[in-house]
This record gives sequence, C-alpha cells and structure tokens, in this order.
Amino acid sequence: MRRLVVGNWKMNLTLAEATVLAGEVANFAGDFSTLQIGICPSFPWLVPVRESVRFMPHNFFIGAQSVSPYPHGAYTGDVSAEQLKGVVTHCLVGHSEQRRFHHLTSNDIQGQIRLLVKEGITPIVCFGEKLKMQKGDSISQLIRDLQQDLSGLDKQEVVAKCIFAYEPLWAIGTGNPASPDYVQQAVSSVKSWLKEYYDQESPRVLYGGSVTSSEAKDLKAVRELDGLLVGGASLHAKEFKEICARFGGRVS
Ligand code: PGA
Repeated sequence: MRRLVVGNWKMNLTLAEATVLAGEVANFAGDFSTLQIGICPSFPWLVPVRESVRFMPHNFFIGAQSVSPYPHGAYTGDVSAEQLKGVVTHCLVGHSEQRRFHHLTSNDIQGQIRLLVKEGITPIVCFGEKLKMQKGDSISQLIRDLQQDLSGLDKQEVVAKCIFAYEPLWAIGTGNPASPDYVQQAVSSVKSWLKEYYDQESPRVLYGGSVTSSEAKDLKAVRELDGLLVGGASLHAKEFKEICARFGGRVS
C-alpha cells in the first residue's frame, strides 16, 4: 500500500494562495507514484481549490480538517459529513488543536468517525501524548486514550476504515520533532494493539509534529510508519515537495 504525505494547512492562506499551492502540489504529486499525497485546506476553500486543480493525479486527494459530530441541524458554524461528501475523500478527526479549542470529547470523536465512514470519507484520527515520554515510561496511557476515542465503534465496519495519525502534542508546531526511534516505538505499539484488539490486519499509522525535509529521510527508515501529517512545512510547495521526495523517494 502507498505511504501517505498529508498537508494540514490549518487556518492559513488566502483563496489565491491556496489555489496556487494546490495546483503546485497536484502537479508534483504525479512524480511520486509510491506516495498518496493530500492537502487539507480550510472549509471555504475546499470547493474552489478542488475546482481549480485542473489535473488531479490519481494519487492526490483533498481532505477537510474537521467535521461536525452531528448529522445535521442547529449547529451554527459546523459542517456535516454529508455536506463534505463529494468534496473531500479524507478528513482529520480529533486534531489536538480541535480538541483544545473546541473541547472535543471522545463522544464527539466517535460521532465524527461514524458519520464520515457512513459517507464514505476516510477519517484520519489524530492522537498523541501531551508530555514527552521518558525511557521506561509506559505507552499504555497513549493507548488508553485512543481506546476511549474508539470505544463503541464497530471494528470492521468503522475502525478498519480509519487511518491514524500519531501526533505527540509536545512536537506539534514546536520545531522539536520526535526522533525516528521514538516514533517507531509508539507506532509499533499502537499497531500491535490495533491488530490485537481491533482485529486489524494492516492498520495505517502516520506521524505528525514539526516534520520538515530534514526529518523526512530518517522517518522514511521507520519501518512501520505509513506516512506523515505535515503542518507548517506543507504551506510551502518547494519544502512540501522535498518532504515527499525524501520520504517517498523520487520515482520518475
Ligand atoms: P506541524 O503541525 O507540522 O506544524 O508541527 C502538524 C500538525 O498539527 O498536524
């Protein structure tokens, strides 16, 4: 299966900037056939960005940054999974900034995942510890938190359709990425747990947190890692392309 590199644009870029950047990413995506490359613009730019990309390579996708946990109704300011259908193929769920500023609960996360899957949109479920784990620290709290977010969801119908993104909070936007060894340990434990408790044959787990082109090559060597979720560095076409080149290897 292709590894993923996903750009999380957060609340950045004007419409003009977003369409230019999307066009640049779509143009170079075709060069990296071992990767699936995605961008997650802000809500109002999803449709115009999609329409502005004239040639969509098969390995390029557009995703949303969040979704309402409710199907429809009086939720001012929210966007439903049904409304996203046909516009995006993927959607971030439970990003730490959403959890922090919108006080998302595990119930909300479960609702978001359920509704996205119902609409055929792939949830990219973010999780990660607040404080850096020290040698000897147990990874069980990280897994317990994820377990709570997934509780009650059907293993095969729902959890099997998710992609996971391990994003330690201390590494997001700090310029202090987790080391490849650290990532390997967390990703490997979470994958074993997903295999054992969720009967997942091949769960997919990405890493995010201050990824730049300097880390991409070393992260490529992390055996069990299925991709990267890139924030700040995805806002610059040249740097994002370099991350793809180093993580995926230039194929053509
Ligand atoms: P960062 O953000 O790459 O700017 O640390 C990652 C993320 O928040 O997904």
